[in-house]
Amino acid sequence: MNNVDAILQAGLSAVAGVTDLIELEQVKARYLGKSGELTELLKQLGKLAPEERKAAGAVINQAKQAFEAAHNDKRDALNAAKLEAQLASESLDVTLPGRGAVGGGLHPVALTLERISGLFRTMGFEVADGPEIESDFYNFQALNIPENHPARAMADTFYVEGGEVLRTHTSPIQARFMENNQPPIKIVAPGRVYRVDSDATHSPMFHQMEGLWVEEGVSFADLKAVVTDFLRRFFERDDLQVRFRPSFFPFTEPSAEIDVLGERGWLEVGGCGMVHPNVLRIANIDPEKYTGFAFGIGLDRFAMLRYGVNDLRLFFENDLNFLKQFN
Ligand code: FA5
Ligand code: MG
Repeated sequence: MNNVDAILQAGLSAVAGVTDLIELEQVKARYLGKSGELTELLKQLGKLAPEERKAAGAVINQAKQAFEAAHNDKRDALNAAKLEAQLASESLDVTLPGRGAVGGGLHPVALTLERISGLFRTMGFEVADGPEIESDFYNFQALNIPENHPARAMADTFYVEGGEVLRTHTSPIQARFMENNQPPIKIVAPGRVYRVDSDATHSPMFHQMEGLWVEEGVSFADLKAVVTDFLRRFFERDDLQVRFRPSFFPFTEPSAEIDVLGERGWLEVGGCGMVHPNVLRIANIDPEKYTGFAFGIGLDRFAMLRYGVNDLRLFFENDLNFLKQFN
């Protein structure tokens, strides 16, 4: 019984040195468990003389209670510290600004497409469309593009199994529309087009808008007036310089490239011309009676010019930091 106090002191300092609840329970087991040091002392009470037993039992029970009290205090302290830490780590700062709903926006090319369609609608044009996977007939033959024309070379055209193509321009929509409608025809037709082509100003997928006006008496002067008027409205500059530079397309005659004068000189924005009589004939429109003009413009180029973007590829990388600027 002499060492009760020594055992108690060792137990109390073990409890004091503990830093977590698991360790605390291990210390408790060492003193009060089935074969804990204080438990063992109680078991030995029976070996004592009956007259000594009562006093010794009281001493051991006191030690046991002192140990339990220290254990309980330590447990409460550890639990409180644990709760404190949890509250600190999970605390909410209700004064922080809310995250709010993230609003989407239209893509700059879509904004440009909408704007251009809108301008042509105010000039009396209807909006038409056609398929992106197109037959050889509408993409080429109906547009007077002969079998051996360079525009048909594998190098420019994406071919689809079965002999169809990813349309290389929006001009097949003209051919389809003329086949199903008689003049007067006055349409614009926007859409995706595809070419084997890739650099800062050429993308394998890009957007064009076709324009077509077929009616009695439509002339090249009308073409120049409509296109110039559109361009001046689009760029919001009445003095914008527009140039029609002689060129060649199999489906128009005469043909021209459309250039606008920008800060860095003349810039090609599209092609145009008077619809070739062969194209009208293939669509069963009488070229003796009707004339028309057509144009095809690169929508991505218009978006680049309007928003001051110098690399076309930025439009197709889906970088939200870039796209957010147009919301
Ligand atoms: C054509 O595609 C003709 N179909 C346009 C046309 C229609 C002429 C009707 C006459 C009558 P072109 O290949 O030049 O023409 O393309 C027209 C415009 O599309 C170009 O001026 C340019 O702005 C744009 N473009 C052409 N290739 C690319 C490309 N890879 N990436 C981005 N824009 C392009
Ligand atoms: Mg061109």
